[in-house]
Amino acid sequence: MTLSAKERLIVALDVPDLQSAESLIEKLTGHVGMWKVGMQLYTAEGPKIIDFLHERGEKVFLDLKFHDIPNTVKKAGEVAARMGVYMFNVHAAGGMEMMRQTAISTREAAEKMGKPCPLLLAVTVLTSIDERTLNEDVGISGKVETQVVKWAKMAQEAGLDGVVASPREIEVIRQQCGDQFAIVTPGVRPDWAAKNDQKRTMTPEDALRVGATYVVVGRPITQASDPVQAAQMICESMEKGMNTSC
Ligand code: C5P
Repeated sequence: MTLSAKERLIVALDVPDLQSAESLIEKLTGHVGMWKVGMQLYTAEGPKIIDFLHERGEKVFLDLKFHDIPNTVKKAGEVAARMGVYMFNVHAAGGMEMMRQTAISTREAAEKMGKPCPLLLAVTVLTSIDERTLNEDVGISGKVETQVVKWAKMAQEAGLDGVVASPREIEVIRQQCGDQFAIVTPGVRPDWAAKNDQKRTMTPEDALRVGATYVVVGRPITQASDPVQAAQMICESMEKGMNTSC
């Protein structure tokens, strides 16, 4: 399936409540492909925000990073499928069995409802975790990149559709997991936008060029004086990257 640049652009709705989300959604509907609802907004508003987006025909990435025993996560996956979200994620650290059971249960739940199955993504090593933290605090030895690739391949073997990965991990995951594996990439910054707290950023053009399937962009769009223009400029940059992809 060939996706347009706009379809590949996911906007992070990192806002405290439905009211703040509404004004962004109203402004940007038609200019972006999907909305990422994370812990802050979902904890504040619950399924109301998902319903609000679905009623407007918008796609939702439910970014709650499930991490629990297999039975609990697979039940959450079934709920996500019944809600009809387009994608959601789990932590690869939850293990092969947790991911495998969640993939199966999510597909079965979607089938039962006659709804399309959500894309199921794995979060590998969080970008806030450096090698020292991984080795000493988490207790996993070796390099971050080695663990990222290991978990990405494990997620693929468990039947997941892709991973959330930082820009610097895109190439190696693409090489190891192939063309069909979805790579959703935050930490994307156009040259004209502030980096904020993102450290190892990549432009939208380069992220697409090296193999990202989707990019997640928050503040460069949501805090822009003209969010529609910002989204359009990012889509143009993504298109360039798609036309020159490796
Ligand atoms: O505003 P900004 O573009 O930095 O937003 C990026 C979004 O992607 C935020 O919701 C952030 O939590 C999320 N994210 C990230 N880096 C990760 C995983 C998720 O920036 N490794």
